[in-house]
Amino acid sequence: MLSMRKVSRFSRWIVQVRLSSTMLAFNERKTSAFSVVDPSRIQLKPAVRLKGRRFLPGADSITFPEYLDSPRDDFPLALEAVGTYSIEDWGRLCKEEADTSLLTYGAILFRGLPLESADDFQLLFSSTGYRPMNYIGGSAHRNNVMSQVYSASDEPPECCIDLHNEMSYSRVYNKRFFFFCLLPPEKGGVSVICKNADLFAQLDQKYIEKIVRKKIRYIRHCPDGATSDYLSWQKVFHVSTKKEAEEEMTRLGVEWEWQKNNDLTYWYLLDAMQPHFITGEEIWFNQAHAMHASFFKAHPSFYQKNIPDNQYPFHSTYGDGEEFEPDFLRQIRDAGWRSAVGIPWAKGDVLLLDNMLVQHARLDFEGQRKILVALSN
Ligand SMILES: [Fe+2]
Repeated sequence: MLSMRKVSRFSRWIVQVRLSSTMLAFNERKTSAFSVVDPSRIQLKPAVRLKGRRFLPGADSITFPEYLDSPRDDFPLALEAVGTYSIEDWGRLCKEEADTSLLTYGAILFRGLPLESADDFQLLFSSTGYRPMNYIGGSAHRNNVMSQVYSASDEPPECCIDLHNEMSYSRVYNKRFFFFCLLPPEKGGVSVICKNADLFAQLDQKYIEKIVRKKIRYIRHCPDGATSDYLSWQKVFHVSTKKEAEEEMTRLGVEWEWQKNNDLTYWYLLDAMQPHFITGEEIWFNQAHAMHASFFKAHPSFYQKNIPDNQYPFHSTYGDGEEFEPDFLRQIRDAGWRSAVGIPWAKGDVLLLDNMLVQHARLDFEGQRKILVALSN
């Protein structure tokens, strides 16, 4: 179990990382392949309103932030490609930059890479040498575009996606997360990132102690693919039979129950914090709020459906089944969006996240928008 001494050490580490990232922000790059982008070039214009935003979970709270911040000097690290190299070489250069800077900044925006298509993105990703990871057991509504590349989300355009660390509701999760802008959004559709440390620093100790002690119970309700394609168990586990689904659930170490209509309910407990894969520091790393029924109560496809919480595609509680306090969920969402910055996409942008240090989200959009992702260990 996480001790409060460890939490305190974590807070000191956050301060150190913030100081060092500020100092490093405008230092000369290790290679001449990238130059630092002035933050004034990646401001959100016009301003993006958050408070009261339709289909954004938590936005009806009076304490929710009014507007989304633009990128700051040190978050994300924004770099422009200035050399002429092959995509394979750019992949190696991005990896070199990530090895130097990702732990410090948590997020790197690469702009100006010569990427025109999903094939180009897959080639860049595979050239980094990071080990690709598939999306079995994932909760996002997305599709395979290529062997290692997925659509970021196939949720309806009007849906806003809560801030979250990818697959942090799972025992198996990706350490790094690549986004690629194939087609910038026509209107809206800003991707959003925030540092877990900034969010965590704003939470009440009483809630932290309680969730660390009790853990989190994640409950998922997956329809049979014959009746619904939305996060069906066939799609979630990439299988076609119940036996194959059970093999995947055994591998993931979860408990399950088949419903009479062939829907599947499964559940498991996880810690609210996990050790970072490099530093070993305990990180706030979970989806207590983003896997909660309250996400679906604000979702355009489930809005005002009024079904029991454990019959939404997912729900979460304390490990003993106690429901989270609404005030706790409000704190998490307020803190995340208050700390967040929006990324104004340009075609060809690649955004690389340390998936344990940085959360991501998406706002609603109109018209075309194509953002792809790749997961790596
Ligand atoms: Fe995600």
